[in-house]
Amino acid sequence: MKGIGTSGLILNEKLLFEHSAAGRKGYSLAQLDVPESTPPQELVRDEIPGFPELSEVDVVRHFTRLSTWNYGVDSGFYPLGSCTMKYNPKVNETAARLPGLAQLHPATPQSLAQGALELMHGLQGALAEISGFAALTLQPAAGSHGELTGMLMIRAWHEAQGRPRTKVLIPDTAHGTNPASAAMCGYEVVPIAGTGGVLSAARVAALMDEDVAALMVTNPNTLGLFEAEIREICAVVHARGGLVYCDGANLNALMGIARPADMGIDVMHFNLHKTFATPHGGGGPGSGPVGVTAALEPFLPKPVVVRDADNYRLDDDRPQSIGRMRSCYGNFGIMLRAYAYIREMGGAGLKRASELAVLNANYIRARLEGTFDLPYQGRSLHEVVFSDKNLANDCHTLDLAKRLIDYGYHPPTIYFPLVVHGAIMIEPTETESKEVIDAFCDAMLAIAAEAQDNPALLHAAPVRTKVQRLDETGAARKPKLKWTG
Ligand SMILES: Cc1ncc(COP(=O)(O)O)c(C=O)c1O
Repeated sequence: MKGIGTSGLILNEKLLFEHSAAGRKGYSLAQLDVPESTPPQELVRDEIPGFPELSEVDVVRHFTRLSTWNYGVDSGFYPLGSCTMKYNPKVNETAARLPGLAQLHPATPQSLAQGALELMHGLQGALAEISGFAALTLQPAAGSHGELTGMLMIRAWHEAQGRPRTKVLIPDTAHGTNPASAAMCGYEVVPIAGTGGVLSAARVAALMDEDVAALMVTNPNTLGLFEAEIREICAVVHARGGLVYCDGANLNALMGIARPADMGIDVMHFNLHKTFATPHGGGGPGSGPVGVTAALEPFLPKPVVVRDADNYRLDDDRPQSIGRMRSCYGNFGIMLRAYAYIREMGGAGLKRASELAVLNANYIRARLEGTFDLPYQGRSLHEVVFSDKNLANDCHTLDLAKRLIDYGYHPPTIYFPLVVHGAIMIEPTETESKEVIDAFCDAMLAIAAEAQDNPALLHAAPVRTKVQRLDETGAARKPKLKWTG
């Protein structure tokens, strides 16, 4: 079997509770040479039920073994479509750990935090230049949080016009957070079907009326296709008094090439933790800045970082602001990494990154398209979505994803977007070499051949891992979150 996955010396590991042995300790202290004092009796517990008793080496080995089970972009290829899992250059981590920035207290007086404020102001400026928007907030802590922030600003804008509206149009390819964010703002969500995977201005026009507050569109969309009629679509929405929100999670296909604001978009969130090479996944910290046109600037969350001559300050005097969206000023560490990345790449570097991301996705498309079904044939940008239709012998997307683990690859995103039955959504990003991508494509083709010749292998996969196929539905529906002994 080809591929880089082996099971080798990966040790199994029990829970710390299961390692416990009565009386075992992880410390040895010198004899007391001062009188022993005891805490107040009411604070003393006779025993802590089930508390593990362990030696130091038990604990160190436990956590070291667990650390070897992690898989991340630093271990190997991670083609998780819609998530832009690009390699994060370590120089960004070095910048984020500079003590003057890493240890800055959020309550530091503004006069003593000029460097941090300048950095935030610089990041706002860079994102404005990349996207074309007039103003930005850095507060939101995730893409979805940015969506909520953007939709609240859209609602506030309509209210300020004295004509609040009730509906938001959302394409059927959208990420689930889009309808969730619109609904959280009290809007009714009206789905729009695409044609050949993309929206048409005619279909938007048919649904657009004076009760529609906004269209939420993702460009390129989650099929990796560019919404070619975006300018006409924005014009149709604007003509009826609506606004256009863009989910900017897929900006990695456009940086330095096209600016969403120039397409007619009014509001867009960025996913710093995708496009700008900052850590992502596992629920870790994120950052979802939102850019807006000049008309929406008064509604930005407060405070906003502004510059007066050579002084940077937080402006709280914003009567039309939707208010604060995040404690302190957002996830500063993620902003810092994104700023370092943008400065290191420069304009030309960002453009090159997008071009290579698109090239890599199209290379994968060209290598796999003869074997895997490609339900939407439009030109791919930074990701490509296949289906499991051509897999033989009742083998499905989940079987392929599990078998990829045996070959040493993190599976792509599966079963999303929902418009593709059995979707396999591959996003290689620009940071992978041709050799890595070729080896991944070889593994995909080998698995398709296995589905023909030995489908039982796919149905049982993964077979080279510590644990084999898990009951994922059971884990999601009846999670066991507590050790019961
Ligand atoms: C297209 C799209 N929109 C929005 C989001 C939400 O971003 P976040 O996970 O940062 O909340 C994602 C996340 O994966 C996404 O892929």
